Amino acid sequence: TVLLHKEAVPRMENPLFSSAFLPLSLLAFVSQVLVSRAWTTPDCTIADSSLLTNLSYYIPFCSLAPGLYLFASCSNIKDVAQTLRAVPQDREALCLQGMGSVLPANAFADFSSLQLLRLQLGNLKVTSKAFQGLDQLQHLYFEHHAPCCLSLFLPPDVLEPLRSLHSLSFQGYCLNSSQNIQLPISLTCLTLRHSCLTKLQELQGLFSNLVPGSTLTASPRPSVYFLEVLDLSSNLQLSQAGVRALHGLQLHSLILDSTPLSSLGLLDSGLLHLDFLSLVDKGIKKLPGNVTGYFALHALDLGRNQIQNIEDPDLASCHSLEILSLHDNGLRSLPIRFLSVLPQLQRLNLSMNNLGPTLVLPGLVSAKLRVLDLSYNELCNLPYGAFSFLPQLQELWLRGNNISSLINGSLEGLRWLKTLDLSWNQIKVLNPGWLSSLPALISLNLLGTYLEHILGKQLQGPHKLHCLQLGSLDMLDIYSPWPPALLSLEVRAEGFIRFIVHNEEPFLLLENLTLQSANAQLFSYNTTVYFPSLHHLTLRGISSYIFSSHQPLKFFPELPLLEHLHFWSDHMDADTMCLLGMPRLQVLELGDLNFLSEFSLVNLEILLKQVPQLQVLVLSHLNPGTLSMSTFRDLGHLQLLLVNSEYSLGLDSNLQELIPQMPPYVFFSDITFTCQCESSWVGPWATRAPNTFVYGLDKSICIADASDYSKTPLLSFFSDHCTHDPGFQGFLASFSLVSLMSILALLGCRKWYWLHNLQNLFHAWWWELCGRGPRRQLYYDVFVSYCEQDQAWVLEELVPALEKPPPMGEGLKLCLPYRDFGLGQDRMDATVANMKISRAILCVLSCQALKSTWCNLELRLATYHLVVRPRMARPLLLFLEPINSQELCSYHRLTRWLQKEDYFDLHQGREDWDSFCEQLRRRLRKVGQERED
Ligand SMILES: *[C@@H]1O[C@H](CO)[C@@H](O)[C@H](O)[C@H]1NC(C)=O
Ligand SMILES: *[C@@H]1O[C@H](CO)[C@@H](O)[C@H](O)[C@H]1NC(C)=O
Ligand SMILES: *[C@@H]1O[C@H](CO)[C@@H](O)[C@H](O)[C@H]1NC(C)=O
Ligand SMILES: *[C@@H]1O[C@H](CO)[C@@H](O)[C@H](O)[C@H]1NC(C)=O
Ligand SMILES: *[C@@H]1O[C@H](CO)[C@@H](O)[C@H](O)[C@H]1NC(C)=O
Ligand SMILES: *[C@@H]1O[C@H](CO)[C@@H](O)[C@H](O)[C@H]1NC(C)=O
Repeated sequence: TVLLHKEAVPRMENPLFSSAFLPLSLLAFVSQVLVSRAWTTPDCTIADSSLLTNLSYYIPFCSLAPGLYLFASCSNIKDVAQTLRAVPQDREALCLQGMGSVLPANAFADFSSLQLLRLQLGNLKVTSKAFQGLDQLQHLYFEHHAPCCLSLFLPPDVLEPLRSLHSLSFQGYCLNSSQNIQLPISLTCLTLRHSCLTKLQELQGLFSNLVPGSTLTASPRPSVYFLEVLDLSSNLQLSQAGVRALHGLQLHSLILDSTPLSSLGLLDSGLLHLDFLSLVDKGIKKLPGNVTGYFALHALDLGRNQIQNIEDPDLASCHSLEILSLHDNGLRSLPIRFLSVLPQLQRLNLSMNNLGPTLVLPGLVSAKLRVLDLSYNELCNLPYGAFSFLPQLQELWLRGNNISSLINGSLEGLRWLKTLDLSWNQIKVLNPGWLSSLPALISLNLLGTYLEHILGKQLQGPHKLHCLQLGSLDMLDIYSPWPPALLSLEVRAEGFIRFIVHNEEPFLLLENLTLQSANAQLFSYNTTVYFPSLHHLTLRGISSYIFSSHQPLKFFPELPLLEHLHFWSDHMDADTMCLLGMPRLQVLELGDLNFLSEFSLVNLEILLKQVPQLQVLVLSHLNPGTLSMSTFRDLGHLQLLLVNSEYSLGLDSNLQELIPQMPPYVFFSDITFTCQCESSWVGPWATRAPNTFVYGLDKSICIADASDYSKTPLLSFFSDHCTHDPGFQGFLASFSLVSLMSILALLGCRKWYWLHNLQNLFHAWWWELCGRGPRRQLYYDVFVSYCEQDQAWVLEELVPALEKPPPMGEGLKLCLPYRDFGLGQDRMDATVANMKISRAILCVLSCQALKSTWCNLELRLATYHLVVRPRMARPLLLFLEPINSQELCSYHRLTRWLQKEDYFDLHQGREDWDSFCEQLRRRLRKVGQERED
């Protein structure tokens, strides 16, 4: 925009015109900068899920496809076009929920990067060109979650613009008013669930080019003919197929779960090819041999049926199966020849049946079986060599059985086993060497055992054990030696976890660690235990002494690579917590830390100062009282701030000084605020925040005190009880005013190339805002800003006192515009540049100064820099004479930033001069230290 203005300038010769034009265009520029960084959209969540993997736990979410992160999820929609106007156009996924009734033409024309669109808009009529411009769209869903069915009208050519569409889904809709919808040839998955489909044949009328054999298609059109997935599940009236209903179609997977349609109907449907058939929850009592044999199916899912017995004749025609699921069928036994008649079988899922208590698998011989799931079968005993006839087995799932011990040899012969899940059994003993027959084991799950001690010897055998989960009811002591190659470790025990480590370094490679317990301790003898590779640490329930700064034996001495810390405690002792030694930490989730009430905010502040590089901060159940600027001031890299589950939360009015610095995403979920006008700035901020997407304020309530049950909506409290907040308006005004002032001042002087200056100013501002400014050398100690009228005093009194070497003066290096700016150097440029390379800024003020345009500008620049760079020291003000507050109040930003120690009234005498010098020295020292960090 700046460049554009520059090009426009030479054409404007009339200076009068240009001076009127400029402020206006500048205003336009400023407001455009604000708008293009988007205002908050009511009823929408705008988020970037790459920042926090668990985001859906905290806020309303839009279920995404892999690789998509930027989404907007809007609810209560009444007018789609109006809602979309407020949604940023760079979204990859959009979920719209409400009452749309009509989807107008070109509704999404501005959303060219959209890849997923999920519409829950009630009864809906889609106009012909509604999806124009969505040529990146891959997933389109029409959903309604109440029982069947709403009506949906789609014109035949509506999907034509969707050249990249992969999956199209209708759920809870009757489509019988639409006909001949032309499917994009890129389509691979078609879903029609909970619809009023009664016959398969109706698909031909609905979709003109789905089935090549369809006689309804008049002219030859590009046809689909091949689909990865056709999902027709939960169509409760779909009971007939119809001859040649799918004639000529080739399918990979057909899903008919929870429909009354008999699979026999498929035999004369004309379907050419089928690999996988899913027949879950259909009341089936016999293995469907016919259809399996007819299509030579590779995969068959028969979960949640009633196949209690399998007979040999049914099996005979199933020999093509590679994947079979008989999950939840009440199956009591398997026929002797079960696996020998299924020679291709690679995955067999027998979970949730009644195959126990003793596993009897006499004929369980297969050279190909790789995955066997026997979870939840009430198994108690695994006999000797139970799996020895499955030499290729790689995954064995035995979760939720009743196994109490593993006798020697029950896992014999599993040379290639990689995954073993024995969680939630009743294991009380593990023999040493029980894993010795599993040399290839990578992942072992022993959560939910009754073990109280685990000895290193018990985990020996596998050399590549990367992933280990251990859990006990109450106490768990774990003794070294540890498996040497652990990458991921999870341990849970309600009461206590103790690690006992001898002379070794057990966690050198560990990347992920999860501990869930009331207490965790690490006893190490003759060695310090390091976690040099830890990236991801999750701690639930543990007291914060684990991060204590006092503890002689700290659990985590240093975590150089830690990126994500999830720490939910529920203890009372968070005061000694310390997060130093985590230089890479990006994501911090803190919950249930009961900082001792009145200090809580201070403690949080101290904690956050230790991790200034943080990008994501999530605070839950912390009881922080009132959040204020000082809590977040140092978090300059924050991208997402999420405050969750707080009662009686206040937001201090000084937080609005951080508005230009606020992270792009600020979310409040499940918060009850305190009804106080001090927070009223958040009202206008949340709806018009210049660079932040705010979620959750429009739904929040506030309480006046603990006995207030009136559930007052927060924003209506502000509008009813708080006078219009001048601060925020003032902020917005001064935001543009600062620019206007600079221009007006510059216009007064013809020799300045104002446009060039303006551009520099905005460049500097923009770079600062994006945090990309190059690191500067600080050249001067103090930049002194004063007016010509006060120059005599500055040169005769101030400069000698500050510049002369001690003890005469302070020995500082000053920057004085009249003396240190180069001859002919542009004053505006030089001011901005020199302020940046000075450690401190000192403004000398008198009544005359405040009346001078130029002083005005300098002062505004100084305060402007404050907002843009809050970490910079505040300017010091020297008042040469009493100035009444009214004269200062137009600098409202300044007055808000100033603290008592920032200004000095020199006409009072010597005392103030001394305290001024002391304050100045302190400032300079502080800047010096920060630079060294
Ligand atoms: C998400 O966070 C919640 C709250 O801390 C936790 O209970 C849940 O397990 C987390 N989920 C994942 C997948 O991390
Ligand atoms: C669509 O099907 C539903 C349920 O079968 C029926 O009530 C409705 O009248 C049908 N509409 C049309 C236009 O055929
Ligand atoms: C077995 O089927 C159940 C139900 O579909 C599923 O939850 C489980 O993950 C499956 N087991 C394996 C090993 O895939
Ligand atoms: C599991 O085993 C315990 C004894 O070890 C027994 O009391 C319990 O009834 C068994 N549970 C089932 C579901 O078989
Ligand atoms: C099982 O094996 C361990 C060591 O390999 C041995 O000490 C123990 O006696 C064996 N137990 C049985 C019941 O054979
Ligand atoms: C560690 O956790 C992260 C995030 O949950 C996951 O992406 C990664 O695969 C895990 N690494 C290991 C070795 O389990």
